[in-house]
Amino acid sequence: MAGGFVSQTPGVRNYNYKLTPKVFVTCFIGAFGGLIFGYDLGISGGVTSMDPFLEKFFPYVYQKRKNAHENEYCRFDSELLTLFTSSLYLAALVSSLFASTITRIFGRKWSMFLGGFTFFIGSAFNGFAQNLAMLLIGRILLGFGVGFANQSVPVYLSEMAPPNLRGAFNNGFQVAIIFGIVVATIINYFTAQMKGNIGWRISLGLACVPAVMIMIGALVLPDTPNSLIERGFAEEAKEMLRSIRGTDEIEEEFQDLIDASEESKQVKHPWKNIMLPRYRPQLIMTCFIPFFQQLTGINVITFYAPVLFQTLGFGSKASLLSAMVTGIIELLSTFVAVFTVDRFGRRVLFLQGGIQMLISQIAIGIMIGVKFGTAGTGNIGKTDADVIVALICIYVAGFAWSWGPLGWLVPSEISPLEIRSAAQAINVAVNMFFTFLVAQLFLTMLCHMKFGLFFFFAVFVFVMTIFIYLMLPETKNVPIEEMNRVWKAHWFWGRFIPDEAVGVSAAELQQKAV
Ligand code: BGC
Repeated sequence: MAGGFVSQTPGVRNYNYKLTPKVFVTCFIGAFGGLIFGYDLGISGGVTSMDPFLEKFFPYVYQKRKNAHENEYCRFDSELLTLFTSSLYLAALVSSLFASTITRIFGRKWSMFLGGFTFFIGSAFNGFAQNLAMLLIGRILLGFGVGFANQSVPVYLSEMAPPNLRGAFNNGFQVAIIFGIVVATIINYFTAQMKGNIGWRISLGLACVPAVMIMIGALVLPDTPNSLIERGFAEEAKEMLRSIRGTDEIEEEFQDLIDASEESKQVKHPWKNIMLPRYRPQLIMTCFIPFFQQLTGINVITFYAPVLFQTLGFGSKASLLSAMVTGIIELLSTFVAVFTVDRFGRRVLFLQGGIQMLISQIAIGIMIGVKFGTAGTGNIGKTDADVIVALICIYVAGFAWSWGPLGWLVPSEISPLEIRSAAQAINVAVNMFFTFLVAQLFLTMLCHMKFGLFFFFAVFVFVMTIFIYLMLPETKNVPIEEMNRVWKAHWFWGRFIPDEAVGVSAAELQQKAV
């Protein structure tokens, strides 16, 4: 595929490039970074529903589960059990803050490498765990790994990708996340059938495979032109740009990168600067997008699908199987985003996906409420159970082509170089904090709010869809170092962006837009 592109955003420049094998291969390898996150997301729910695992580390939950229950909704409620799942995300939150400095000073690839390395050690702790302490230390190390990878990989992909395919390339990260989840769920399906302690050990220990993949990947990857310039290697950056864009006519893009880097050099403290009014749109978006992504309630399904399905009366094998089905639907649906995000744009996907999630969540809440009652002692027949699984699949598909990939893409592409690493660290930290909160509170919320939990998340999905409609400008096809112009042209955010940041006034931009 050759040639430039026509941008619909007023005042935004066009670059020349071809889609080269090099950019394709580097982004493919870079996206491996999502595997460790995904593997972990997918493995935890299954492992926490395995009897030998519960018996060894959480005997209280095991006993509670074995005994007759009055209220199915409260069957798995245990703070300690959820701490196993959620501790990782607190660790990831902390490490993403360090990762931003490493990403900025040493380049994106070294953060990825460190991510793989700590994840590798964590997987060994978990696979060989003898007691709860080893289990939790392992989880924390895995969390450090996830924080480093999630901070660096989306930025890496967005910087490498040609502007008009940035969405598709960046969505490779989400594809890798979901691929990791699906593989983990399949592994759990088989290991759950093993006798004794070997099953959960294999599940947790195999996390070393994606860890090794990202470590090797990071070693062979080149760094992005943006990062090379930022670190003073302008000539190397030019060469890199030529080879990934497949043309010698890179002057304009190169100049934009140099300008962006010059501007970013004025900024000594990215963390202090991101608080300045001119970065308000980025600050608000990098806080709200991950917050909303988690408040879609997706991780109730990701972590606890097997537990949720068991609560609804499925057998443990049927639960893992249903979790596998929802995972595969999520993977396939993510490709819808890959193929449409640069054509239809981010907003269309956000809005359509939001409406789909909203409707399916309300339907799930009603179904469970009617069939299962508030006491949680009702019974769900086979057909009703199938309908609930189908509704969950519709919900998951909606997430998979909207908030899933876009929750990583948009924050990684909207910030100028001088605050990009800090902004991405905020994105990861907020995402991890709310992942932690949902993971930590879900079982208790299910116990108390019962089917109302689905209405709770539906309210947030409604609010976030309105938020996107009003506040997020379209960023498809806009070169990453030209993003200020998009903010400047926005009805609300325009007032925060000084004229000199775009070299043209808002009035001029709006005039061009007409
Ligand atoms: C989210 C995760 C979620 C995953 C799979 C990611 O984009 O950040 O929290 O578990 O998608 O659904």
